[in-house]
Amino acid sequence: MNRTVLYIILLFWFSAGYLKAEDGSRLWLRAETTATAQVKTNRKSPTITIAVEELKTQWKGAPVQLVLKRDKELLGLKKDGYIISGDKQKGVTVRSVSDIGLLYGAYHLLRLQETQNGSDRLQITESPKYDLRLLNHWDNLNGTIERGYAGHSIWKWNELPEKISPRYKEYARANASIGINGTVLNNVNASPAILTSDYLQKVKVVADILRPYGIKVYLSVNFSSPKILGGLPGSDPLESTVQQWWRDKAGEIYRLIPDFGGFLVKANSEGQPGPQDYDRTHADGANILADALRPYGGIVMWRAFVYNPGNEDRAKQAYGEFMPVDGKFRENVIVQVKNGPVDFQPREPFSPLFGGMEHTALMPELQVTQEYLGFSNHLVFLAPQWKEFFDSDTYCKGEGATVAKTTDGTIFPHSLSAIAGVANIGQDINWCGHHFAQANWYAFGRLAWNHELTADEIAEEWLRMTFTQQNGFITPVKQMMLDSWETAVNYMMPLGLHHIFAWGHHYGPEPWSDIPGARPDWLPRYYHNADEKGIGFDRTIHGSGAVSQYHSPLREQLNGIETCPEDLLLWFHHVPWDYRMKNGRTLWDELCYRYDTGVQQVREFQKIWDRMEGYIDEERFRHVQSRLKIQSRDAVWWKDACLLYFQTYSGKPIPYDIERPVHELDNLKKIKLDMKHHN
Ligand code: GCU
Repeated sequence: MNRTVLYIILLFWFSAGYLKAEDGSRLWLRAETTATAQVKTNRKSPTITIAVEELKTQWKGAPVQLVLKRDKELLGLKKDGYIISGDKQKGVTVRSVSDIGLLYGAYHLLRLQETQNGSDRLQITESPKYDLRLLNHWDNLNGTIERGYAGHSIWKWNELPEKISPRYKEYARANASIGINGTVLNNVNASPAILTSDYLQKVKVVADILRPYGIKVYLSVNFSSPKILGGLPGSDPLESTVQQWWRDKAGEIYRLIPDFGGFLVKANSEGQPGPQDYDRTHADGANILADALRPYGGIVMWRAFVYNPGNEDRAKQAYGEFMPVDGKFRENVIVQVKNGPVDFQPREPFSPLFGGMEHTALMPELQVTQEYLGFSNHLVFLAPQWKEFFDSDTYCKGEGATVAKTTDGTIFPHSLSAIAGVANIGQDINWCGHHFAQANWYAFGRLAWNHELTADEIAEEWLRMTFTQQNGFITPVKQMMLDSWETAVNYMMPLGLHHIFAWGHHYGPEPWSDIPGARPDWLPRYYHNADEKGIGFDRTIHGSGAVSQYHSPLREQLNGIETCPEDLLLWFHHVPWDYRMKNGRTLWDELCYRYDTGVQQVREFQKIWDRMEGYIDEERFRHVQSRLKIQSRDAVWWKDACLLYFQTYSGKPIPYDIERPVHELDNLKKIKLDMKHHN
């Protein structure tokens, strides 16, 4: 064998080992487990044992001391906070008042190592912005997931409590590594069965596995449980028998799970039962559950996602229902509010309940699963969307009263502060369907811990841990991630358009959808209002008046067609087709250019990605490559469907310098995807 051949063989051998196939199952936790670090600790607990093990097997630096103690400096931090000091080469100390703080500190050290971040000297003080950082699983007891795009539920209820999936522990570890400390195991459209004794036994087993990782278990409950499970005549919250039923149930739960977190409730929303069935308020309903849980330290997360068919603008309804009960909730109730006033649309303004309800603790609900953003087919990094939300100024206490500050305790110091993300996790080997959807799980945890982190920092951390350290990969792929949300907004619903999805699923476009007898607020026309004059939803004071739910001067800014941010123009205004945008184009032309830009951007993503072959393993490279092809085709589908349909109203040509439609509108109207979900 000559030397060249030998060299080539060796090269293949090495590179094959280096770029070995990866299925994504290890998420961002891919550190080698060959280290033999020295780790000392002054205390023992199951959580500290995990911290020690993680460091011993992965930390490649100097000896680490984990010190549990209560000094003034540490007591000034929130419970899960920690301080890291020392030198990576000489010795590092992690201090905290809680064992979970030490575990978080251990993951922090490993993150620094895996991202090759920073100097050797360490002086880090960390304290979470939100006390409770939760995932919400919309997982049904039969294993299906509402709006889940990564296979079936990881919770194998039919096997529990006897059989334990290895995923439970892996899940706990992944969440702990990003600071998530609570999980709601079941769908908000809750089956009453979750509160039966049989299911509680299963829940207990999961809770026991998650506990050492600092994760508390919560359950979604059905408000009619006393009637359905307890055989009571009704579930009126002011009936003493109903109250007793909830107290007894709470007692049963806490005997099994002493640190049970509490209940999440979707009531009087989309057909779910609730206190209004008995002419009681949301506060009446939430408070009796809260009273039942209070002796044990449990909480109630009561959702504000409510709307009914009727004349009132859907975007106004939650505010209308919840403002009158502001301040009427118990201390251990927190109202969970989706980021926007409608429903996780590609882009929404923030819900006016933020900054509106001052006397009630509010927790933001973000959607990690991409229900309205291309499921697990489209690469859409959501940190930029969430940052826009956190940084939105509510003006409730003058300038600078951002959504983040109204919810994290800075402006309204309520006893609870929390945030939830609707999980995108399933049984798929890579957990989230799309490799890049893992980044959204990661980003949710990181932002729940610290909403001041930038999308750029989070993307970079995640890429370095998940793929490779090479800048030739990191720089372009990070840029692609950072551009991806705005890109999806462009090819789906630019300029504030919303909810123009197909009937029956939230994947493709169907702005023309018209189902005889359907609820008007479940049809796209309700939202886009396209006609010969123009397009958009008039929410000004001359329209639905939704702008009035915001504080001044935002209210006036949104109300003025000239002052409303163009990204939200069609959310708040019905705008003439020939209205002049700030760049001088007509609205119609701008709409066309936005759709086209979206398409071109996805094509650009394909070009970026194809150049990345060789930087990472073949398996993940191909997977992402093939998803980008789908995304590219879908973007054209969206563009053609929306522009050809809206053109029937605008009567104007699609500007001649942009790509021509490649579909016939009539053919697009025939597409029916087999995705069975209500709107
Ligand atoms: C959306 C989603 C539903 C879900 C609901 C909710 O409407 O499509 O599947 O149940 O939100 O958040 O309760």
